[in-house]
Amino acid sequence: MADSRAIGVFDSGLGGLTVVKELIKCLPDENIVYFGDTGRVPYGTRSREIIRRYAAEDEAFLIKHDVKLIIAACGTVSSVAADTAKGLPVPFFEVVSHAVRAAVAATKNKKIGIIGTSATVNSGEHKRQILNLLPEAQVTDCSCSMFVPLVEEGWYSADDIVVLETVRRYLEPVIKAGVDTLILGCTHYPVLSSAISKVLGDGVTLINAGTATAAAVKQFLNENGGLNGENNNAQHIFYVSDKPDSFRHTASILLGEDIDETKVERVDISSL
Ligand code: DGL
Repeated sequence: MADSRAIGVFDSGLGGLTVVKELIKCLPDENIVYFGDTGRVPYGTRSREIIRRYAAEDEAFLIKHDVKLIIAACGTVSSVAADTAKGLPVPFFEVVSHAVRAAVAATKNKKIGIIGTSATVNSGEHKRQILNLLPEAQVTDCSCSMFVPLVEEGWYSADDIVVLETVRRYLEPVIKAGVDTLILGCTHYPVLSSAISKVLGDGVTLINAGTATAAAVKQFLNENGGLNGENNNAQHIFYVSDKPDSFRHTASILLGEDIDETKVERVDISSL
């Protein structure tokens, strides 16, 4: 029987929309409830304890919306707080393991780069999982703290000199290491893909965690009878913890479709 309950997705802000975009491509019939914690972004510079508390609150919020599964569309939460999902009454997906598998499958020279927030890189989670699958891999990771504010500000054009120079400076270690595959370990970063490719050249494969995760979710729903039936009117509802207007503007660009103002609601996450 079809399960029409929505897929719940959360992130610290706008970045998780890169995962939603891939989900919509892969699973156009599914209803989606998104929570972007725009009032508390960024997560990636915060302590483990705070990130874990925020993640648990975000998950509880989505559970209240009767979702059928939850995706932590946030590299930071996936790296340091995935265990907050233990005990949830619905299946949980993070974005690290799927990206790691895609990177290991893609690399030819076994030199893999990881970029992410400082919490993600410091956790060493991607590196640990890569070396588990491919012990001879050479892994280079670096945190790119200014990428999230750039994206949230709407600065990601590959023609923007400020964007290009910022990308070039942060990517120096992975350029020096000669990686042929780069994991975009933060869900905000696919928005910077064109700028990153311009700096690294076409020889470097960029791994978008959203693409890999959406495919895994599709397979899971298929195998477990959890898909929605044919649905020409899939609902995508967005909740944010700060002003909906600024979210709508940049979110529409990230998703590649306009978001109606009736579909975005502000919530006070700490009082829930
Ligand atoms: N999209 C989040 C991630 O994937 C952004 C991190 C942040 O809020 O700092 O890590």
